Amino acid sequence: MNILLAGGAGYIGSHTAVELLTAGHEVIIVDNYCNSCPEAVRRVEEVAGKHVASYGADVKDKRTMMKIFEENEIDCVIHFAGLKAVGESVDKPIEYYRNNIDTTLTLLECMRESGVKNFVFSSSATVYGEENPIPYVETMKRGSCSNPYGWTKVMMEEILEDASKADSELSVVLLRYFNPIGAHESGRMGEDPQGIPNNLMPYIAQVAVGRRDHLTVYGGDYPTPDGTCRRDYIHVMDLANGHLKAVEYANTHKGVEVFNLGTGTPYSVLEIIHAFEEANQVPIKYEIGERRAGDLPEFWANAQKAERILGWKTKRTLADMCRDTWNWQKNNPQGYKK
Ligand code: NAD
Ligand code: UFG
Repeated sequence: MNILLAGGAGYIGSHTAVELLTAGHEVIIVDNYCNSCPEAVRRVEEVAGKHVASYGADVKDKRTMMKIFEENEIDCVIHFAGLKAVGESVDKPIEYYRNNIDTTLTLLECMRESGVKNFVFSSSATVYGEENPIPYVETMKRGSCSNPYGWTKVMMEEILEDASKADSELSVVLLRYFNPIGAHESGRMGEDPQGIPNNLMPYIAQVAVGRRDHLTVYGGDYPTPDGTCRRDYIHVMDLANGHLKAVEYANTHKGVEVFNLGTGTPYSVLEIIHAFEEANQVPIKYEIGERRAGDLPEFWANAQKAERILGWKTKRTLADMCRDTWNWQKNNPQGYKK
């Protein structure tokens, strides 16, 4: 299949590109590089050993996107192109609503005008909100979010459900990611955050490589076994494989289907720090600080539906996630910059 990856130069998109190419699909990447760089696409080509059609373009730009849809015979769209920093979304809500929702609407319009029927969407565990019990199951109602980023995901899921109700030929797969970490095992591709990392694993990796002095653990007094928050961390290549399965599923089904992509096992912040130290024999300096506003004490996935229907299951361990993160970071201390 020919698969258009909107936001395909980013962390999850680039790893998914390799997985799709390796499985024999063709990919077309569209990215405006607002949170990535063309070097990421070059690395995808290097690792997969294949050429990739890529466009430096804004997915909100309908005219340019229509040209891309006309130039390429597209079978499926995967929509990764979003702004994703939770804290920033509180300060810049208008930018977040504009970018995340507009990209989705533009893609849906282009698909309708070009007769493309399959859509896979990067959603998030954040849509379960603050009220649902854990572990999260797809049958639960979407909850209320504590920030505009989360609301954009809730709204986009609703938009996609409505679009699907109005077009019985449309196939929409909503993938709710839990906490993707790790890197391609080659050490040539990985997460390359701009500025100070917001997320735990890239922060740990930058402490390990000497770019940051120490990690602050946000809160040590949560009602969890060791007092630090617990999350469901998933290797980015397992997540990438989930997209491969989702694309194949979308091609043979109609309507909307939702899948959690997680491992089903939570780890605390302290467990992640110690797993990283043990896997890589590198010390991580840290101190326990204040809680971060908006963090939930713990959540993880019930991932049985993806296994039952997509035949997807994670294969990689926490030690793999830590080893691959470090292999990427130590070989690319400044990320994709030389
Ligand atoms: P990322 O920032 O690395 O990738 C997103 C890509 O989209 C970037 O390359 C960025 O340049 C591009 N982009 C953004 N707006 C664009 C636009 N208007 N036009 C063209 N390109 C645009 O983020 P990621 O971690 O790879 O996340 C991918 C998707 O998965 C996002 O939608 C994110 O919200 C979602 N998600 C991520 C996580 C996570 O922890 N990483 C968790 C849940 C959901
Ligand atoms: N943490 C620290 N110190 C840091 C960074 C994070 O202690 O410097 C802690 C957080 O408090 C949290 C855990 O590490 O307990 C994980 O934090 P991340 O920021 O890595 O991930 P979140 O669970 O907060 O959020 C992630 C994505 C969101 C997504 C959410 C649910 O960043 O986009 O998972 O899928 F919405």
